[in-house]
Amino acid sequence: MTGSRGRFITVEGIEGAGKSSNLEFIKQLLEASGKEVLFTREPGGTPLGEEVRQLLLGHRHTGMADDTELLLMFAARAENLEQKIKPALEAGIWVLCDRFTDASYAYQGGGRGIDKMRIQQLEEWTQGELRPDLTLLLDLPVEVGLERAGKRSAPDRFEKEEVRFFEDVRQAYLQIAWDQASRVKVVDASTPLYEVQAHITETVHDFIQTGS
Ligand code: TMP
Repeated sequence: MTGSRGRFITVEGIEGAGKSSNLEFIKQLLEASGKEVLFTREPGGTPLGEEVRQLLLGHRHTGMADDTELLLMFAARAENLEQKIKPALEAGIWVLCDRFTDASYAYQGGGRGIDKMRIQQLEEWTQGELRPDLTLLLDLPVEVGLERAGKRSAPDRFEKEEVRFFEDVRQAYLQIAWDQASRVKVVDASTPLYEVQAHITETVHDFIQTGS
Protein backbone atom coordinates (compact mmCIF):
# COMPACT_ATOMS: atom_id res chain seq x y z
CA MET A 1 0.00 0.00 0.00
CA THR A 2 1.21 3.49 -0.78
CA GLY A 3 0.95 6.55 1.44
CA SER A 4 -1.95 7.81 -0.65
CA ARG A 5 -4.14 4.82 0.10
CA GLY A 6 -7.77 5.70 0.82
CA ARG A 7 -9.30 5.15 4.24
CA PHE A 8 -11.96 2.62 5.04
CA ILE A 9 -14.89 3.73 7.20
CA THR A 10 -17.77 1.49 8.24
CA VAL A 11 -21.04 2.21 10.01
CA GLU A 12 -22.78 -0.36 12.20
CA GLY A 13 -25.78 -0.64 14.49
CA ILE A 14 -28.91 -2.63 15.15
CA GLU A 15 -32.14 -2.13 13.20
CA GLY A 16 -33.55 1.39 13.54
CA ALA A 17 -30.28 2.97 14.72
CA GLY A 18 -30.48 5.55 11.91
CA LYS A 19 -27.71 4.26 9.65
CA SER A 20 -29.25 5.40 6.38
CA SER A 21 -29.68 9.09 7.17
CA ASN A 22 -26.33 9.27 8.97
CA LEU A 23 -24.44 7.54 6.16
CA GLU A 24 -25.48 10.26 3.76
CA PHE A 25 -24.43 12.83 6.35
CA ILE A 26 -20.99 11.20 6.77
CA LYS A 27 -20.49 11.07 3.01
CA GLN A 28 -21.18 14.80 2.81
CA LEU A 29 -18.77 15.51 5.68
CA LEU A 30 -15.99 13.60 3.93
CA GLU A 31 -16.65 15.24 0.57
CA ALA A 32 -16.70 18.67 2.20
CA SER A 33 -13.20 17.84 3.48
CA GLY A 34 -12.07 17.17 -0.08
CA LYS A 35 -12.18 13.38 -0.03
CA GLU A 36 -13.36 11.34 -2.97
CA VAL A 37 -15.81 8.82 -1.50
CA LEU A 38 -17.09 5.47 -2.70
CA PHE A 39 -20.24 4.35 -0.93
CA THR A 40 -21.08 0.68 -0.65
CA ARG A 41 -23.09 -1.64 1.57
CA GLU A 42 -23.18 -5.17 2.93
CA PRO A 43 -24.54 -7.57 2.21
CA GLY A 44 -24.57 -6.17 -1.31
CA GLY A 45 -22.62 -3.46 -3.06
CA THR A 46 -21.96 -5.41 -6.27
CA PRO A 47 -24.41 -7.02 -8.73
CA LEU A 48 -23.58 -10.48 -7.33
CA GLY A 49 -23.67 -9.19 -3.76
CA GLU A 50 -27.07 -7.60 -4.26
CA GLU A 51 -28.44 -10.94 -5.48
CA VAL A 52 -26.99 -12.64 -2.42
CA ARG A 53 -28.59 -9.91 -0.30
CA GLN A 54 -32.01 -10.85 -1.68
CA LEU A 55 -31.41 -14.47 -0.67
CA LEU A 56 -30.35 -13.38 2.82
CA LEU A 57 -33.01 -10.75 3.55
CA GLY A 58 -35.95 -12.15 1.63
CA HIS A 59 -38.42 -14.68 2.94
CA ARG A 60 -37.87 -17.46 0.41
CA HIS A 61 -35.41 -19.27 2.68
CA THR A 62 -36.71 -18.64 6.17
CA GLY A 63 -35.17 -21.80 7.62
CA MET A 64 -31.67 -21.04 6.29
CA ALA A 65 -28.92 -22.77 8.30
CA ASP A 66 -26.76 -20.44 10.40
CA ASP A 67 -23.58 -21.53 8.60
CA THR A 68 -25.20 -20.87 5.21
CA GLU A 69 -26.10 -17.38 6.37
CA LEU A 70 -22.55 -16.70 7.55
CA LEU A 71 -20.95 -18.07 4.39
CA LEU A 72 -23.29 -16.07 2.14
CA MET A 73 -22.41 -12.90 4.06
CA PHE A 74 -18.74 -13.59 3.39
CA ALA A 75 -19.34 -14.58 -0.23
CA ALA A 76 -20.97 -11.20 -0.85
CA ARG A 77 -18.14 -9.56 1.11
CA ALA A 78 -15.41 -11.28 -0.91
CA GLU A 79 -17.00 -9.93 -4.09
CA ASN A 80 -17.36 -6.42 -2.67
CA LEU A 81 -13.74 -6.46 -1.51
CA GLU A 82 -12.31 -7.60 -4.83
CA GLN A 83 -14.55 -5.60 -7.15
CA LYS A 84 -14.99 -2.36 -5.24
CA ILE A 85 -13.35 -1.85 -1.85
CA LYS A 86 -9.73 -2.83 -2.51
CA PRO A 87 -9.43 -1.15 -5.94
CA ALA A 88 -10.90 2.07 -4.51
CA LEU A 89 -8.59 2.14 -1.48
CA GLU A 90 -5.60 1.47 -3.70
CA ALA A 91 -6.63 4.38 -5.93
CA GLY A 92 -6.69 6.71 -2.92
CA ILE A 93 -10.49 6.80 -2.71
CA TRP A 94 -12.14 6.74 0.71
CA VAL A 95 -14.62 3.90 1.14
CA LEU A 96 -17.74 4.34 3.25
CA CYS A 97 -19.47 1.01 3.87
CA ASP A 98 -22.92 0.45 5.38
CA ARG A 99 -22.02 -2.53 7.64
CA PHE A 100 -19.04 -4.86 7.30
CA THR A 101 -17.49 -7.77 9.20
CA ASP A 102 -18.40 -6.43 12.66
CA ALA A 103 -22.00 -7.21 11.61
CA SER A 104 -21.02 -10.85 11.08
CA TYR A 105 -19.51 -10.99 14.57
CA ALA A 106 -22.61 -9.28 16.02
CA TYR A 107 -25.43 -11.06 14.11
CA GLN A 108 -23.99 -14.46 13.21
CA GLY A 109 -21.69 -14.59 16.27
CA GLY A 110 -23.71 -12.81 18.97
CA GLY A 111 -27.19 -13.37 17.54
CA ARG A 112 -26.92 -16.89 16.07
CA GLY A 113 -24.22 -18.14 18.41
CA ILE A 114 -21.63 -19.15 15.81
CA ASP A 115 -18.15 -19.58 17.28
CA LYS A 116 -16.09 -16.41 16.90
CA MET A 117 -13.09 -18.44 15.70
CA ARG A 118 -15.06 -19.52 12.62
CA ILE A 119 -15.81 -15.91 11.76
CA GLN A 120 -12.19 -14.96 12.36
CA GLN A 121 -11.06 -17.62 9.89
CA LEU A 122 -13.34 -16.23 7.19
CA GLU A 123 -12.24 -12.69 8.01
CA GLU A 124 -8.60 -13.61 7.55
CA TRP A 125 -9.32 -15.58 4.38
CA THR A 126 -11.30 -12.87 2.61
CA GLN A 127 -9.65 -9.75 3.99
CA GLY A 128 -6.06 -10.70 4.77
CA GLU A 129 -4.86 -7.79 6.89
CA LEU A 130 -7.46 -5.34 5.67
CA ARG A 131 -9.65 -3.94 8.47
CA PRO A 132 -11.75 -0.78 8.67
CA ASP A 133 -9.75 2.27 9.77
CA LEU A 134 -12.74 3.75 11.56
CA THR A 135 -16.07 2.25 12.58
CA LEU A 136 -19.00 4.26 13.90
CA LEU A 137 -21.31 2.16 16.03
CA LEU A 138 -24.73 3.80 16.29
CA ASP A 139 -26.00 2.42 19.57
CA LEU A 140 -29.46 2.58 21.09
CA PRO A 141 -31.80 0.42 23.18
CA VAL A 142 -33.29 -2.46 21.21
CA GLU A 143 -36.93 -1.48 21.87
CA VAL A 144 -36.33 2.04 20.53
CA GLY A 145 -34.56 0.73 17.43
CA LEU A 146 -37.19 -1.90 16.65
CA GLU A 147 -40.00 0.59 17.08
CA ARG A 148 -38.33 2.98 14.64
CA ALA A 149 -37.56 0.18 12.16
CA GLY A 150 -41.12 -1.17 12.41
CA LYS A 151 -42.55 2.12 11.23
CA ARG A 152 -40.43 2.09 8.07
CA SER A 153 -41.33 -0.89 5.93
CA ALA A 154 -42.29 -4.57 5.90
CA PRO A 155 -39.82 -6.53 8.06
CA ASP A 156 -37.02 -8.43 6.30
CA ARG A 157 -35.85 -11.90 7.43
CA PHE A 158 -33.67 -10.41 10.20
CA GLU A 159 -36.22 -7.87 11.39
CA LYS A 160 -38.57 -10.77 12.14
CA GLU A 161 -36.24 -12.02 14.89
CA GLU A 162 -37.20 -11.78 18.57
CA VAL A 163 -36.12 -8.91 20.82
CA ARG A 164 -33.73 -11.32 22.56
CA PHE A 165 -31.80 -11.82 19.30
CA PHE A 166 -31.24 -8.07 18.94
CA GLU A 167 -30.22 -7.76 22.60
CA ASP A 168 -27.47 -10.33 21.87
CA VAL A 169 -26.49 -8.49 18.67
CA ARG A 170 -26.29 -5.19 20.54
CA GLN A 171 -24.16 -6.68 23.33
CA ALA A 172 -21.81 -8.25 20.77
CA TYR A 173 -21.39 -4.88 19.05
CA LEU A 174 -20.68 -3.16 22.38
CA GLN A 175 -18.14 -5.83 23.24
CA ILE A 176 -16.33 -5.23 19.93
CA ALA A 177 -16.30 -1.49 20.68
CA TRP A 178 -14.90 -2.19 24.13
CA ASP A 179 -12.20 -4.53 22.78
CA GLN A 180 -11.22 -2.30 19.85
CA ALA A 181 -11.80 1.16 21.27
CA SER A 182 -9.28 2.90 19.03
CA ARG A 183 -11.10 1.81 15.86
CA VAL A 184 -14.74 1.61 16.97
CA LYS A 185 -16.43 4.80 18.18
CA VAL A 186 -19.79 4.44 19.89
CA VAL A 187 -22.35 7.13 19.08
CA ASP A 188 -25.48 7.35 21.25
CA ALA A 189 -28.16 7.11 18.57
CA SER A 190 -31.07 7.51 21.00
CA THR A 191 -30.49 11.28 21.28
CA PRO A 192 -32.08 13.81 18.87
CA LEU A 193 -30.67 13.72 15.33
CA TYR A 194 -28.82 17.05 15.68
CA GLU A 195 -26.92 15.69 18.70
CA VAL A 196 -26.11 12.44 16.91
CA GLN A 197 -24.81 14.41 13.95
CA ALA A 198 -22.76 16.75 16.16
CA HIS A 199 -21.08 13.70 17.70
CA ILE A 200 -20.49 12.16 14.26
CA THR A 201 -19.03 15.41 12.93
CA GLU A 202 -16.56 15.61 15.83
CA THR A 203 -15.53 11.97 15.42
CA VAL A 204 -15.09 12.17 11.65
CA HIS A 205 -13.15 15.45 11.82
CA ASP A 206 -10.86 14.02 14.52
CA PHE A 207 -10.26 11.00 12.32
CA ILE A 208 -9.48 13.11 9.26
CA GLN A 209 -7.00 15.18 11.25
CA THR A 210 -5.24 12.41 13.09
CA GLY A 211 -5.91 9.24 11.13
CA SER A 212 -5.44 10.17 7.51
P1 TMP B 1 -29.60 -3.36 6.52
O1 TMP B 1 -29.27 -3.04 5.11
O2 TMP B 1 -30.89 -2.80 6.95
O3 TMP B 1 -28.49 -3.02 7.43
O4 TMP B 1 -29.87 -4.94 6.57
C1 TMP B 1 -28.87 -5.87 6.49
C2 TMP B 1 -29.20 -6.99 7.45
O5 TMP B 1 -28.19 -7.99 7.33
C3 TMP B 1 -29.20 -6.55 8.91
O6 TMP B 1 -30.27 -7.17 9.58
C4 TMP B 1 -27.91 -7.10 9.45
C5 TMP B 1 -27.64 -8.31 8.59
N1 TMP B 1 -26.21 -8.62 8.44
C6 TMP B 1 -25.72 -9.76 9.07
O7 TMP B 1 -26.46 -10.47 9.74
N2 TMP B 1 -24.40 -10.06 8.93
C7 TMP B 1 -23.53 -9.32 8.16
O8 TMP B 1 -22.34 -9.64 8.06
C8 TMP B 1 -24.08 -8.14 7.51
C9 TMP B 1 -23.17 -7.30 6.68
C10 TMP B 1 -25.41 -7.84 7.68
